[in-house]
This record gives sequence, structure tokens and C-alpha cells, in this order.
Amino acid sequence: MNKELIEEMIRFAIAQLKFSYAPYSSFKVGAALLTQNGKIYTGCNIENAAYTPSNCAERTAFFKAVSEGIRAFKAICIVGGKDGVLTEYTAPCGVCRQVMMEFCDPVTFKIILATSIEQYKIYTLNEILPLGFGPANLSYMEEMIKDGTDR
Ligand code: THU
Repeated sequence: MNKELIEEMIRFAIAQLKFSYAPYSSFKVGAALLTQNGKIYTGCNIENAAYTPSNCAERTAFFKAVSEGIRAFKAICIVGGKDGVLTEYTAPCGVCRQVMMEFCDPVTFKIILATSIEQYKIYTLNEILPLGFGPANLSYMEEMIKDGTDR
């Protein structure tokens, strides 16, 4: 990934902060998800008065893409902070890491945490979700179904 593309993703993630709906935590998060085809899907966090229905920015971006038939991803950029002020890196919650695990190769998928266009860090999914459990761990079920050993 070149510097220009990373900076573009950061710009898209920052632009999402204005759409963040976070009246309960005031913690605004923006995400920009890069597909294998080079398209960027954006997302923001969307909170709820009943709290648990709240959705993180990362999952908003993933679900927008998957709901349009896209399942191949290269990287995601995340920015966030209280009142949308980017003082520290905002790393994805455990649930979002698990959603990434469903659609991304943990060895190659990149997570870009940024506080500004110039200030960012890049991790792989494998680094932030070691020993993750994903679709590959269930593929033995396909074998069982094929030879009837599941019945
Ligand atoms: N949040 C995200 O959207 N992504 C993260 O990576 C961390 C947390 C949201 C959820 C909630 O709306 C607010 O930030 C405070 O937790």
C-alpha cells in the first residue's frame, strides 16, 4: 500500500466523523474500508438509546460493503476520539476484529490506526487478533457433510 492510498483512506475515515451518531458516549469514530478492487466503503458508529443495538464504525463499513456483494478486502483505516478529537489511536473492539476475521485474510489484511494524515500505525489482523477463529476453522464440517459423518 502506498502512502497516497493510506492518506486517502485516512481522509475518508476523518470525513465520516461528521456522520457519527454518538449522543451517549460522545466518542465519534470513522472508518474507511478498502476493497480488493480499490473501492472505499466508509462507516461511522451509530449508537442507540437501548445501548446494545449500537454499531461500531468498522462494522458499519463492512456491512455496507457485504450487503452490496463485496467480500474481498485489503485494509481498513480507523479514526476516533471524544467529540471527534483525534488524540489517540482508536483500535477496533473485539466484535469488530471477529467480523474482520470472517471476511479477511488475517495475515495480509491491514488495520491502519490514525490520528492525522501524517500520524498512523499499521497492523495486520493476525497481530491484533492472534489465534483467531474464522471460517477456515469450520471447513472440516464441509468434509463431514460430504462423507455423511455428520449424520
Ligand atoms: N467504537 C467504534 O465505533 N469503533 C471502535 O473501534 C471502538 C468503539 C464506538 C462504539 C461506541 O459508539 C463508541 O465508540 C464508544 O465505545
